[in-house]
Amino acid sequence: MTTTTKLTASLWGGRFSGEMDALMKKFQDSIGFDIRMWSQDIRGSMAYARALSMAGIISSDEAETLQNGLQAIHDEFAAGKFEIKDGDEDIHTAVERRLKEMVGDVGGKLHTGRSRNDQVATDTRFYCLEAIQTVRANIQAVQTSLVDQAEKHVSTLMPGYTHLQRGQPSTFGHWCMAYFWMLQRDLDRLAECEARVAVLPLGSGALAGNPFPINRPALANDLGFQEISQNSFDGVSDRDFVAELLFVGAMLGTHLSRLAEDLIIYTTSEFGFVTFDDAYSTGSSLMPQKKNPDAMELARGKVGRLTGNLITMLMVMKGTPMTFNKDYQEDKEALFDTLDTLELLLPVCAGAVRTLKVNADKMRAALDPAILSTDVAEYLVRKGVPFRDAHHASGRAVALAERKGTKINALTMDDWRAISPHFGDDIAEVFNFEQSVNSRDVTGGTSARSVREQIEKARLLLAVS
Ligand code: ARG
Repeated sequence: MTTTTKLTASLWGGRFSGEMDALMKKFQDSIGFDIRMWSQDIRGSMAYARALSMAGIISSDEAETLQNGLQAIHDEFAAGKFEIKDGDEDIHTAVERRLKEMVGDVGGKLHTGRSRNDQVATDTRFYCLEAIQTVRANIQAVQTSLVDQAEKHVSTLMPGYTHLQRGQPSTFGHWCMAYFWMLQRDLDRLAECEARVAVLPLGSGALAGNPFPINRPALANDLGFQEISQNSFDGVSDRDFVAELLFVGAMLGTHLSRLAEDLIIYTTSEFGFVTFDDAYSTGSSLMPQKKNPDAMELARGKVGRLTGNLITMLMVMKGTPMTFNKDYQEDKEALFDTLDTLELLLPVCAGAVRTLKVNADKMRAALDPAILSTDVAEYLVRKGVPFRDAHHASGRAVALAERKGTKINALTMDDWRAISPHFGDDIAEVFNFEQSVNSRDVTGGTSARSVREQIEKARLLLAVS
């Protein structure tokens, strides 16, 4: 069993004569996970070859040889035929090693003026830019499910809760749209994050910048980046963009955990508001009657790792000195884990919401007249009573009904009059859930008109993005 690796053969082996301990090699190799960036690494190198040739550092023939070689490697990866060899410590060294095998000595010219430090920062940003498109589309799929459900349930009455206590009447459509807007903020955050990801560090070298006159703006343009980094030290050591993207993931996961928790509660026999489709439920191995909301429990649970990944990244960056440090290699597993998690979590949430069966009868049955107590107070306000006094009077009506063991809407006219002379026969009209919901007709309110207004705005937002 060999316990060491010859260092002289590695890309940076010139100054070494000793050997690397086998565990040290295992400890520092990142090929196991950064291989995922093969396409970005190769396309970044192709653009760099073009930039070197434009700067007159290599001939156009050499640039073409390099690009053809890189394309062949790209094809090998795409066909699943690329072979990792001992000594390929990361994706960058693996591609360069293979390039030299394919095109010979000219392969050694590709890295002119470039370092793995600006290369890995570029690859990771490039990877994020592409992944962001998938996250965006997947968030929008959840939003579409929510808006579709909202449209069907603009007038499906349901209690609205605060402190998980029945508060005021509302609709299932309004509930759906609340989650739509949360996810819309996640999309906004994603777009803002994307702008900061799209800053090209290539040209920063190892730390001090590129000594050859490569055209960085042209390189950025070639790779689809919006801007170039303005300081090489910062260029190679900035990992804010990873932390930001992980925050977007953690916030998104937090929102989905709330959605999940609501639906878990609503699906219990005690509530029975909604039923999950079989496609998103599981059974119990012991209790035959069980239909478990596992999809939503996992959605609630996944926020643990999403938030954990954010904390990992912040802790990796904390206190690192200028400029590049190997610590930053720890960014990728956290990043990939968040992206992988979202890639399943979002479509599962979209499907679970889309196929949700809404039990309107159960929702309606949960509307206790007591949740119209606020409307009782508002009735008095409309008769000129100050809100604080009105609130107090309504509270007394609630207490009286409780004492009498009846519902608030079963109080007699004498009962009402004893509480306040402002109560008239028309108090009976207050006890109407639809009317209560529709009376809240400001933008953002529960009225069917207002929810339709939200839906219209949502459809526009989904159409333009
Ligand atoms: N595998 C490394 C990473 O993921 C690449 C950069 C290595 N640079 C260096 N100077 N050792 O960050």
